[in-house]
Amino acid sequence: MAVIAQKCPHIKVTVVDMNAKLIAAWNTNSLPIYEPKLDEVVFEARGRNLFFSTDIDANLIAADIIFVCVNTPTKTHGIGAGSASNIKNVEACARNIARVCTTPKIIVEKSTVPVKTGEAIARIVASCGNGVAHSVLNNPEFLAEGTAIDDLWAPSRVLIGGSNDAAVEKLVSVYANWVPRERIITTNLWSSELSKLVANAVLAQRISSINSISALCEATHADVDEVARAVGMDYRIGKYFLKSSVGFGGSCFKKDILNLVYLCQSYGLHEVAEYWNQVVKINDYQMKRFANNMIKNMFNTITGKKICLLGFAFKKDTGDVRETAAAYVAKYLLEERASIAVYDAKVSADSMFEELKYTNGVDETTIPELKKLITISNTDVYAAATGAHALAVMTEWDEFKTLDYERIFGLMVKPAFIFDGRNILDHAKLRKIGFEVHAIGKVFEA
Ligand SMILES: NC(=O)c1ccc[n+]([C@@H]2O[C@H](COP(=O)([O-])OP(=O)(O)OC[C@H]3O[C@@H](n4cnc5c(N)ncnc54)[C@H](O)[C@@H]3O)[C@@H](O)[C@H]2O)c1
Repeated sequence: MAVIAQKCPHIKVTVVDMNAKLIAAWNTNSLPIYEPKLDEVVFEARGRNLFFSTDIDANLIAADIIFVCVNTPTKTHGIGAGSASNIKNVEACARNIARVCTTPKIIVEKSTVPVKTGEAIARIVASCGNGVAHSVLNNPEFLAEGTAIDDLWAPSRVLIGGSNDAAVEKLVSVYANWVPRERIITTNLWSSELSKLVANAVLAQRISSINSISALCEATHADVDEVARAVGMDYRIGKYFLKSSVGFGGSCFKKDILNLVYLCQSYGLHEVAEYWNQVVKINDYQMKRFANNMIKNMFNTITGKKICLLGFAFKKDTGDVRETAAAYVAKYLLEERASIAVYDAKVSADSMFEELKYTNGVDETTIPELKKLITISNTDVYAAATGAHALAVMTEWDEFKTLDYERIFGLMVKPAFIFDGRNILDHAKLRKIGFEVHAIGKVFEA
């Protein structure tokens, strides 16, 4: 919405949320999320044609186009628990619009939703409204956190699904202020909803494919980076998303694949469901394999040993920790009662503990001494490494490539282990310093 406001000064954009604390933060100089270049975009447009408000009803009434961008998490209870998306927030928005709006609105599903949600929204606004004919479009968001602003400034494509031509054209005309027309594609509503799920499933599948091969590389003296390079140079395959790692995270990949899996199951397509479910299973396997490798190589015990995790965010250039591989690995290490010092410049202690609890069920009821066993620093990586038996790279932050590893080696217990979960460090140089280095998809060299 901030980028729409920046690129279309003639359009008034108001962001509303029921979370008053968030809206208050969006109106300060300290924005509630870290995303490169977001500050400059918000500061340019805010107060001019970009506003943040908690007055949901008044702003719905005033709007011509309403983007529904609420969260659609995986259901934790009831039918489809563990795989279906919960669209209760989307439905609440539809009911709110129906209740207060007396002029026709273009309602845009921006949230990632199960196929046919558009139909549900259309029925709700038709049956609970004031007799007004609203139109429903789907306009999935393809941005990636960490590169969101660049992705929005120059999107690979903008997808708009819907059957009301006038409404579709109106939304096309918003994006056409900065996106070339040939990159704005229009489809029917269901294709658009499904395309978002499939895009994320295919991206995640590429990561799981190369991660499955990383295990084979470790067993066969092949090198996963060499294999990925050789495979990716085939123009039919391409080089993107073939970087092996400890596993993918983020709020969308797992949720959207499970959403697709549930959709297939509900149409009785069990083989198709199981095909896509494997992408998630391989990811779980990769995270567990990484933690098991750490334990095995550190003489089969890490109880009482200090381990320094470099990074906690699910990827670099974001403070987002939802579904981060770091939390899964931390859980496995905590189960062994290791002591963990996390260093991540952009992750708060609150969000780390929230994620450990929400996704991994780790809190002080499951591990009473949790707050003593795991700590996080935003400022001092060297203190985090002091007295550690091992470093484990969880996030591919650029700063980890240029740390003073001679100094870190001096601060650590020997043998000093490094487990590079992102394959970003100079392993030969680290071995020369004296570290025992283990990497993903590479044969161990003493
Ligand atoms: N995060 C991403 O990179 C990304 C990318 C593409 C698509 N998406 C999709 O976008 C949607 C939102 O994702 P997110 O990461 O921004 O989620 P989020 O949880 O960070 O934000 C959702 C916001 O919606 C608000 N909200 C919920 N119900 C509401 C209601 N009834 N009225 C008013 N406000 C309400 C919440 O308070 C919250 O601030 C999801 O469907 C997600 O799959 C996210």
